[in-house]
Amino acid sequence: MGIARDDKDMRQDWVMRGFRQFDAPVSIVLTFDKVLEAGAVCHFDMGAICFGIVLGAWERGLGCVINSQGIMQSQVVREVTGIPEDQNIMTCIAMGYPDGSFSANGVRSRREDTDDLVHFVGFED
Ligand SMILES: Cc1cc2nc3c(=O)[nH]c(=O)nc-3n(C[C@H](O)[C@H](O)[C@H](O)COP(=O)(O)O)c2cc1C
Repeated sequence: MGIARDDKDMRQDWVMRGFRQFDAPVSIVLTFDKVLEAGAVCHFDMGAICFGIVLGAWERGLGCVINSQGIMQSQVVREVTGIPEDQNIMTCIAMGYPDGSFSANGVRSRREDTDDLVHFVGFED
């Protein structure tokens, strides 16, 4: 990131960026009605919605970061956005046009092989 190890201010700023939604121009906060809280189905649905938003955005040239850190101070998020108390705040998504020259955007994580994660039954090789 070009941040020196002993540069405390910049290191702190790096941490704060997560709370600032990485300074992205758009922040989407996903919430669900508290009456849906019992059981895990609404959490499952929120994951699907989140995934759909990220893929749809990417298709249109927009980058996203699903960002749990962005709602850690949920009371602040609630205050700023006016999200009512009958809504549970699930997560948020930072969205914007990706900057390819920004070092963090060049990070590529390794993937586990599909065969190590999925057990296929009834399919021939
Ligand atoms: C549920 C969830 C929560 C995440 N929370 C954060 C976060 O708080 N801060 C962050 O920088 N990235 C967060 N991410 C994004 C991941 O760090 C990572 O960028 C994303 O999963 C894609 O990276 P990958 O290619 O390594 O999977 C989150 C992702 C998911 C799915």
